[in-house]
Amino acid sequence: MIRSVRDIPTLENVPVLVRAALNVPIENGAVVNDYRLRRAVPTIEYLAKRGARVVLISHIGEKGTETLEPVARALGVLTRGVSFCPSTIDARARDAVRNLHSGSVLVLENLRRDTGEKDNSSTFAQALAALGDVFVQDSFDTCHRLHASIVGVPKYLPSYAGLLLEEEMTALSQARTPQHPALAVVGGAKFSTKEAVLTTLLQHYDHVFVGGALANDFLKASGTPVGKSLVSTTDSSGIQTILHNPKLVLPTDVRVVRASETPTPTQARTAPTSDVQSDELILDSGPQTSALLATLARDAKAVLWNGPLGNYENGFVESTDTFANAVAHSSARSVVGGGDTIASIESLGLLSRFSFVSTGGGAMLDFLAHGTLPGIQALD
Ligand code: 3PG
Repeated sequence: MIRSVRDIPTLENVPVLVRAALNVPIENGAVVNDYRLRRAVPTIEYLAKRGARVVLISHIGEKGTETLEPVARALGVLTRGVSFCPSTIDARARDAVRNLHSGSVLVLENLRRDTGEKDNSSTFAQALAALGDVFVQDSFDTCHRLHASIVGVPKYLPSYAGLLLEEEMTALSQARTPQHPALAVVGGAKFSTKEAVLTTLLQHYDHVFVGGALANDFLKASGTPVGKSLVSTTDSSGIQTILHNPKLVLPTDVRVVRASETPTPTQARTAPTSDVQSDELILDSGPQTSALLATLARDAKAVLWNGPLGNYENGFVESTDTFANAVAHSSARSVVGGGDTIASIESLGLLSRFSFVSTGGGAMLDFLAHGTLPGIQALD
């Protein structure tokens, strides 16, 4: 059974090791989006208010080159008593933990600075575990990773789920069996990383729309030319099974640019999916597709959405933003997640209009596919 942070018997002056989701975007040495930090605060304050010595561990960035120092500063604006230690498991970190006052919060340096994190080294996991008397897992966004702070540490300490992790598990478990009619929308890229979730969603949702570069894989597999668009190498038997499911919905029109041109939205033309030329690139879905999605969202009782519908990071935001508006104004229970999806919703000021916003990207998809994650099972 998974125990909750609320079940920890004693907290006064206890060093509590918390795996938090502090992987936030940094520009010029400052946090540019503190959404995940705001979601981390309830567990931190729950522990601090009960007199725990809160030791936060997290990664930031993929490669382990970034520092959590600006994150500690930004967290200090959201909650009281936060300090930073520029190391993770050495004597300096151990001293910082020893000197931590009851009710204070210490952020240790980026876990991925040590290769032991991604390698799931038991030595590294034990060194982390030695920093606390109990462990709280609150980093839902990384619970799909077999890393030391996710599946290693719980082997060595009494372990509990944090408040954010509990919220994610409850909301996403509900989203696996939605009220009908139900619309699921999956964007992003790479069929291989989405096959399991699409298979599950097709069992429980009435319409499953595939957008973004992922749609290119399906268009190509159906024999529709996609020109020079981004496609992933696909396992054709898996994609064919999904392609023939009548619940699958694909874009009917797209926004394309010539591959030789700088891909800007102003250069793009709208084309039916059947009319993409051999020298063109698909970078967004078109207005007809957006209108179809808006109708499905309006009529749905449940909408689940993860991943941008176009090449969001290069400015092809139109279909993503249009869909965000459609869902925000629908009366459906709406569950969303994924970095670019949240960026779109936040930039439009629509965050509060969604029923649940997951802090996970890949973790959200894996949880929806399997109903659990390695980092959650490790707490059991
Ligand atoms: C995320 O941003 O999706 C999580 O923090 C996981 O990060 P990762 O993909 O680098 O493991």
